Amino acid sequence: MTLILDQEPSLLTFPMVLTSLGPPEPHRMAQQDTWTKKDLTGIEELSRSEIELLFRQADQFLPALAPGKGLDLMKGRTVVNLFLEPSTRTRTAFEISAKKLGAEVVSINTTASSLVKGETLRDTAENIRAMGVDAIVMRHSSAGSARYLGSVLDISVVNAGDGAHEHPTQALLDAFTLRQRFGKVEGLKVTILGDILFSRVARSNILCLSKLGAQVTLAGPATLVPAALKEAFPQVRIVHDLKEALKDCDAVMLLRIQHERQTTTHFPSLGEYTSQFGLNAERAAWLKPEAIVMHPGPINRGVEVESEVADGPRSVILEQVRNGVAVRMAVLHLCTGAISR
Ligand code: CP
Repeated sequence: MTLILDQEPSLLTFPMVLTSLGPPEPHRMAQQDTWTKKDLTGIEELSRSEIELLFRQADQFLPALAPGKGLDLMKGRTVVNLFLEPSTRTRTAFEISAKKLGAEVVSINTTASSLVKGETLRDTAENIRAMGVDAIVMRHSSAGSARYLGSVLDISVVNAGDGAHEHPTQALLDAFTLRQRFGKVEGLKVTILGDILFSRVARSNILCLSKLGAQVTLAGPATLVPAALKEAFPQVRIVHDLKEALKDCDAVMLLRIQHERQTTTHFPSLGEYTSQFGLNAERAAWLKPEAIVMHPGPINRGVEVESEVADGPRSVILEQVRNGVAVRMAVLHLCTGAISR
């Protein structure tokens, strides 16, 4: 019996900013070796060459992840983590990344900021900038907030997640992990499974993987993976049958159900979601032997994934987390380096 609603929401309920995406940028013989952007606000703004340049920089930083290792490339610089939504992985990784590069780091959360007293985001950011800060890493509930801040400030702004819009460093560390595992991203088949409609991680990953030449399948219930997504991303395949979505992919990327962004009920209960789309050992056996399981975190064990899969041999979840430090080191180093002091 099918319990999950199969009615698709209209594009009016689709919270993402719709953009068309052309074919992947052709592979260039000449590598780009100069980074010119002071901000990283979305994958949408990046070219394939810029993503590959960032990966080469992250490769250089991997040895610095070892205990006791670090660099002084950002010595004398200050990074402010302005996190106005909860975070464990992203905020901690940015903090460790900045410290590994020798920078000073200050973290501000919602309750500790004057935003709760009615100060505008711009005023808060201008005040932070006036204290001699070199970069603001921001997580905010509003789509477009990081791009706005980057446009009004002359220091670096890095988007650590803006509403249901983008989470660019998550997509970069995911693609970096795929490249590390398979040697390349081009030609890989990647299934993104779950709450696509409300996911900034999905949006950034669709953009990033497509730019790098991977084939993306979006899978889940029709209420969370509507056919209307094809209008924004014509190159993706949309599949509502789990076995079909898993059987020939190189990687499956699981997503958490975003309760906090759902304004209407998209399935009767978490139990019904799990019964049809949760990844357990039996369903993971539909994957190719070499296929890997990814998850950006936080994981809801027993909902979108069972522990036997999350902790099993296919899982690269903790490799993703580790790579997130090297990738964020590259982002901070390149963006702040693009501003002449
Ligand atoms: N993946 C991710 O963004 O996790 P956090 O919410 O813990 O930062």
